[in-house]
Amino acid sequence: MKAIVVTDQAAGTAGMKLVERPEPQAAINDVVVQVHTSGFVPTELTWPSTWTDRRGRDRTPSIPGHELAGVVTALGYGTTGLSVGQRVFGLADWHRDGTLAEYVAIEARNLAPLLGDVDFTVGASLPISGLTAWQGLFDHGRLRAGQSVLAHGAAGAVGSMVMQLAREAGAYVIGTGRAADRQKAFDFGAQEFVDLDNDALEDVGGVDLVFDVIGGDIQMRSASLIRAGGTLVSVVGTAEARPSDGLAVDFVVESDRAQLSEIVQRVRDGRLRTNIGKVSALDDAVATFNATERRAGKTVIRVRP
Ligand SMILES: NC(=O)c1ccc[n+]([C@@H]2O[C@H](COP(=O)([O-])OP(=O)(O)OC[C@H]3O[C@@H](n4cnc5c(N)ncnc54)[C@H](OP(=O)(O)O)[C@@H]3O)[C@@H](O)[C@H]2O)c1
Repeated sequence: MKAIVVTDQAAGTAGMKLVERPEPQAAINDVVVQVHTSGFVPTELTWPSTWTDRRGRDRTPSIPGHELAGVVTALGYGTTGLSVGQRVFGLADWHRDGTLAEYVAIEARNLAPLLGDVDFTVGASLPISGLTAWQGLFDHGRLRAGQSVLAHGAAGAVGSMVMQLAREAGAYVIGTGRAADRQKAFDFGAQEFVDLDNDALEDVGGVDLVFDVIGGDIQMRSASLIRAGGTLVSVVGTAEARPSDGLAVDFVVESDRAQLSEIVQRVRDGRLRTNIGKVSALDDAVATFNATERRAGKTVIRVRP
């Protein structure tokens, strides 16, 4: 099968190569999925799990990409809940070969059915951004109606989901980003917008939940805006930032079939809009990941033409 592999962490995306690899076999409780579309987060190439297995042993050449939508072609021993021919989407294991390939072996529990009227491109754009937003807001942030949320990186893949889900839950949403992101942030549900390069973040006043995807100084300054009992949730580390009288949670998104189903249901009925930037063929994927222009949402790779 065709697959993109990486062998050299120092080379970053420039080290990605499109090669021939053996098709994967389904292990216990796995399915093999013929990948139609794949999602890749550039920071994957800095994660240890891209380079080593769970025991810390080198697993290169490894296939990156952790989001997929496709069709089940085989079931492993003992696999239940999915069937051959079924359309699925979901989040691949961080420590196993990923989805920038024609086939992937993946635990069935990491996948949810993709209903027939949701196309594969939309399906592959949802798992990481949708689950990250859902888990940060509801599992870790315990968001309640009437609270206020500061959603950093509002025009990005995660931020645009955070704002929509927070609004639906009855929160007041302040988005942040670059000056050029203002209109996009409003389109995805922001009620206020902070241009981080030109506006004073401190003018926001108090908020109940900060959802951080940026880190560093922005995170430090955001922590001081959190009201008593509020929460800072971060997907980029919370080394220093702590709300003075609240909770800081740094988390890594997990697969969850029920949450995937909630997310795709919202996309179907128009409550949630996905934020897709560029769509490229697998043959063009390495060039796409190495392009220098600014990403405008989630990049989706169309593996099957
Ligand atoms: N731990 C986890 O489970 C998890 C899950 C999902 C994502 N993540 C991480 O979360 C981050 C965001 O992911 P994403 O997919 O949403 O990325 P994305 O689509 O690139 O969105 C990030 C947004 O934040 C903006 N931004 C970044 N730094 C900024 C700054 N200093 N000032 C103003 N705007 C800034 C970006 O603008 P520019 O493009 O102009 O910088 C972009 O619009 C990534 O680092 C990703 O690895 C972690």
